[in-house]
Amino acid sequence: MKNFYHVPDLRKGTFARTNIQTIQQRISILQKLFSSVESIAEICCGDCQRQRDEYKSNLGVSSYKALDFLPEIAQHNQSLGIDCVCGDALDRKTMQVFSGSQVIFYGPPLSLDCDAHRLLTFSEVIPSYVDFLRLMVSEISYQGSIVCICPKMTTMGEIQWLYGQVKSFSSEWGLRLIHYSQSTVTGQDVLTEARLKYVELWFSSCLEDNWEVIESEGLPSS
Ligand SMILES: C[S@@+](CC[C@H](N)C(=O)[O-])C[C@H]1O[C@@H](n2cnc3c(N)ncnc32)[C@H](O)[C@@H]1O
Repeated sequence: MKNFYHVPDLRKGTFARTNIQTIQQRISILQKLFSSVESIAEICCGDCQRQRDEYKSNLGVSSYKALDFLPEIAQHNQSLGIDCVCGDALDRKTMQVFSGSQVIFYGPPLSLDCDAHRLLTFSEVIPSYVDFLRLMVSEISYQGSIVCICPKMTTMGEIQWLYGQVKSFSSEWGLRLIHYSQSTVTGQDVLTEARLKYVELWFSSCLEDNWEVIESEGLPSS
């Protein structure tokens, strides 16, 4: 079957992964927003061993679940003891499994074939943020928090538009914060100049709707 989604070319030997500094920044934000975090889901997870390890040791999460479209990636994660499902982020039955998670990170591919070079704009990302949020908020009636990991060039106009869409799905939902994540390392731990990596939109049905803006510096990873 030909993939119509962007998936990594595994012949190149590297799994797509988030840099360690961004993961640590997410932990700081989770600690600030929640008195405790019990369960996290990672959708379009790639190699998520680091997230699982960091969330378990720093937040004490009891449940960490993941999902990826590529069987090889799901199997790789499973071999590391991660509860990882192989499936499509837009499949309703599959996504129902994640509806008990307190926080869902939604990190779809942000570059063509996940090569980290040919970057996609906000409106080019598939599965789109609006389709994922419609499924979770409107169709599955998920209650909790969804962090949309968006391209670094995402504009305020696009954020405002997505916010309007989410509000139309459920008036209970709002945008708690916008996180500009900078980092000085790549996902493969190669040092770089400080650069903006992601714009994260922290939507929630249980937190304030106050559009707080946070800019994280790339901190030395320990
Ligand atoms: C860039 S990678 C991993 C990003 C990851 N969220 C992170 O922050 O490290 C994106 C992953 O999304 C997966 N993917 C692409 N389309 C998908 C879909 N429709 N459903 C589930 N996973 C998908 C790809 O196989 C790839 O492993």
